[in-house]
Amino acid sequence: MTAITCVDDLQRLARRRVPRLFYDYVDSGSWTETTYRANAADLDRIAFRQRVLVNIEQRSLATTMLGREVSMPVALAPTGFAGMQHADGEILAARAAGAAGVPFTLSTMSVCSIEDVAAHSVAPFWFQLYVMRDREFVRALIERAKAARCGALVLTLDLQIPGQRHKDIKNGLASPGNLPFRTRLDMLGKVRWWSTMLGTRRRGLGNIVGYAPGVADLPSASAWVKRSFDPTLTWKDVEWIKACWGGPLILKGILDPEDARAACNSGADALVVSNHGGRQLDGAPSSIAALPGIVDAVGDRIEVHMDGGIRSGQDVARALALGAKGAHIGRAFLYGLGAAGEAGVRQCLEIIRRELDVTLALCGVTDVAQVDRSLLARSATTMNRKIA
Ligand SMILES: Cc1cc2nc3c(=O)[nH]c(=O)nc-3n(C[C@H](O)[C@H](O)[C@H](O)COP(=O)(O)O)c2cc1C
Repeated sequence: MTAITCVDDLQRLARRRVPRLFYDYVDSGSWTETTYRANAADLDRIAFRQRVLVNIEQRSLATTMLGREVSMPVALAPTGFAGMQHADGEILAARAAGAAGVPFTLSTMSVCSIEDVAAHSVAPFWFQLYVMRDREFVRALIERAKAARCGALVLTLDLQIPGQRHKDIKNGLASPGNLPFRTRLDMLGKVRWWSTMLGTRRRGLGNIVGYAPGVADLPSASAWVKRSFDPTLTWKDVEWIKACWGGPLILKGILDPEDARAACNSGADALVVSNHGGRQLDGAPSSIAALPGIVDAVGDRIEVHMDGGIRSGQDVARALALGAKGAHIGRAFLYGLGAAGEAGVRQCLEIIRRELDVTLALCGVTDVAQVDRSLLARSATTMNRKIA
């Protein structure tokens, strides 16, 4: 097999190894996928300022996120069903992130439960919360995250009603019941995937099955999820969640400067500029286009992170240059996970680290903390202002 040198290689391998049902679940966006494509395309268009004759021998990518030291300003974004890309996926990804010195975020919709990930990984992880109508269940999830010593709560704001992904419907993932014949046939061919999946008992929604009243298996959990997310969620609830949690709070899914200003007054410690990886409001701006306007709106009143379309260290550098304190990666690490489990996620993080290091060096920057808009060619910053 040819060498793996970039995240695209991991994606190609994941496409071969993961059943199409679950691969498509990752590699898709809502409706026309315009926002999904724009996330990566807008990043690609941003050009760097190449600088020379700067001593770049000593370099550092180490910095802090939410006051905690990280080896580079990257976090693993919360992704539902990661344990279906590879058996025990969330545990493996948490371990890889811990070894790489970056935070891992566990989704509410994970296969491995909060307790399971805490028991099988060393570094503290962040927990992502979806808000259900049943506030006692929400409170219980927060208590479980506290008991597991999660380092931050990531409250997702942009999925109170779900976007539609055509592929999930066609592949039979969107509703309980029998899978279409072609989906089952494709699954049969994924021998490597089966060989690990048959060795684990972790195949449901670990945080929900057995915890939510009346939810005992995956089909009943899926149905429960659909009717349980709370569309009445408002800023008042953020205050309540902040009070229940009492620790660092990150608001995820902010794309508008007005919402970003409201986030500053909500008591949250950080926000993630995000359109859910193009999986929710199709036609919304790309995250990177929205980022500068949000950074300008909030100044240093709240830490700003971003996600959406990050596939390389160059993309992380672009996000930092436009004011993000950290970039979260979703699909990039899932491709690593699907390609080769824990080793694949480690490889993904190493690729991104190397690319970020060399990119900054060739821009004449030796310390990641020094990155600002001067990293970018002037035409690139003007272009971004236009998009935003
Ligand atoms: C397969 C998949 C599942 C996701 N599940 C969740 C989730 O459970 N909770 C959440 O807040 N965001 C979820 N997201 C959104 C990610 O946290 C993140 O915003 C997005 O993946 C970033 O874009 P990228 O994949 O291009 O890096 C999911 C994204 C993907 C691709």
